[in-house]
Amino acid sequence: MQKKVKRIAVLTSGGDSPGMNAAVRAVVRTGLYHGLEVFGILRGYQGLIEDDIIKMESRSVANIIQRGGTILKTARCKEFYQPEGRKKAYEILKKREIDGLVIIGGDGSFKGATMLTKEYDIPCIGIAGTIDKDIVGTDFTIGFDTAVNTAVEAIDKIRDTADAHDRLFIVEVMGRDAGYIALHSGIATGAESILIPERKTDIEGVISSLQEKEKRKKLVNIIVVAEGDDFGGGNEVAKIIKDRLPHIDARVCILGHIQRGGSPSCLDRLIASRMGYHAVESLLEGRHNVFVGIQNNRMNYVPLESVGKRKGKIGEEWMKIVKILAS
Ligand code: F6P
Repeated sequence: MQKKVKRIAVLTSGGDSPGMNAAVRAVVRTGLYHGLEVFGILRGYQGLIEDDIIKMESRSVANIIQRGGTILKTARCKEFYQPEGRKKAYEILKKREIDGLVIIGGDGSFKGATMLTKEYDIPCIGIAGTIDKDIVGTDFTIGFDTAVNTAVEAIDKIRDTADAHDRLFIVEVMGRDAGYIALHSGIATGAESILIPERKTDIEGVISSLQEKEKRKKLVNIIVVAEGDDFGGGNEVAKIIKDRLPHIDARVCILGHIQRGGSPSCLDRLIASRMGYHAVESLLEGRHNVFVGIQNNRMNYVPLESVGKRKGKIGEEWMKIVKILAS
């Protein structure tokens, strides 16, 4: 018979994303509602290995739903990806009699959780929290909506100055190996080209399109480049454009970590609250070693071990939309 869950712990891991606090709040309060003891692990897997764990009460998560970052702090912990690191982690969990672990993070964090569950009998539930939206099995990841809106706000501002000077701007956005932030923010700001890792970058096409626009006296152009684009990031794209079209007035802007901060959007707070609630319900129902996603507005429970095996795809139609609308 399955052991009854009584003491759970929650951690945030990997790159922070706006809405992680809302998810922590939901986990803590749902756990307390069910009469569980809830613990917060500080600094992700690193804090777990170092036994940096605090008791969470309802007031511990007061006034955080609107805050970016993560009150639990986060880290990228190399030690946890070694068997000795996971052994230490498991021993700490045993010592503290924690019988369920909620991991809020992205695919790397889920990979770590999968290793732990394969080696030890500790039920884990993931919550998809990453600005990159690079997890298959969920329509949303916590933080993506806020990050995209931050990028949109920034690109709108860039367009003002680009317009004033008749300039080309190459704007690099985050996303690691995924192009979703670039695609969404690029379409929403009317970018003339969007370069993403999911599609082979046709740099000759970008150059001939700029030449064609120049003939039409369309001098204000924005190219949004995902940091993981196969051609390279914003600086590489700018370099070749400046080499080939030296007369064009071009500037590069790398948005960087600004995309990770800020108060979470309503959507991110909402999905974080739903996912946090369902993560605890799942632990109690005995649905273990899955991550909680949302697909077609329904909760979707995806085995942790399947994360990373499938890559997200961005269909041809998206690129057609970009091309037609940016003319
Ligand atoms: O995974 C989230 C993310 O912000 C990526 O978009 C980016 O490539 C990476 O993290 C940056 O990581 P770090 O904060 O460690 O520089």
